[in-house]
Amino acid sequence: MQDNSQEYWNDEYWKYVINNNKADFIKESWLEKFIAEINKVESKTAIDLGCGIGQDTKWLLDKGFDVVSGDFSDRALNKLKEIIPNSKTMQIDIKEKLPFEDNSIGLINANLSIHYFSMENTIKIFNEIRRVLKPNGLFVGRVNSDKNEGYIQENTKEIEKNFYYEDGRYRRLFNKEQFDTLTKDWNVIVLNEDVTIRLGRKKALWEFILQK
Ligand SMILES: C[S@@+](CC[C@H](N)C(=O)[O-])C[C@H]1O[C@@H](n2cnc3c(N)ncnc32)[C@H](O)[C@@H]1O
Repeated sequence: MQDNSQEYWNDEYWKYVINNNKADFIKESWLEKFIAEINKVESKTAIDLGCGIGQDTKWLLDKGFDVVSGDFSDRALNKLKEIIPNSKTMQIDIKEKLPFEDNSIGLINANLSIHYFSMENTIKIFNEIRRVLKPNGLFVGRVNSDKNEGYIQENTKEIEKNFYYEDGRYRRLFNKEQFDTLTKDWNVIVLNEDVTIRLGRKKALWEFILQK
């Protein structure tokens, strides 16, 4: 299986972030600048897909959404519950069929959580999100850009175009061409390149809002 295991997310990523107080990124309200588009969503049902410890769950709840926070990592979900006791958490594997009805959700957010997969799985993920969204619903998110420097090391193996493996973990860096393929059935409302700081490191990314 070409993606990072649940053990990786629990025991390497979230254990490290939580135990070393590295979760400063939780204060970054990157969705705020898209408030006008997000406010237009009629149905206030949302899924925070790959929610981690709830950076965006909190923001969406504050804006009046009824949010299901889904993630692979029970360590992250437990921490999210501690931070936001009234949250609705669900253990979800993003690569699998999503446990929601067709046309049932107003907004799906995936912040830095869908850039770990082969193109085949990435296409499936985009299709599943589209199935679950209501007509005119929004898919909002951010993914790594191929403009990131220093991500490709001597021991990094390119498994397929823009999909890499090193030291036991997988990562995709997106370019515009791939986005154009993935979004051909969507109404692209926003597609910007931006930079943020995460875990003390500069991260070049794409931020997007797609409408079904
Ligand atoms: C870099 S973190 C981002 C977390 C959160 N969205 C945020 O903004 O802080 C990536 C998240 O994706 C989750 N994840 C990775 N692969 C997943 C999968 N196959 N299914 C569900 N969640 C997954 C990880 O557990 C982790 O919480």
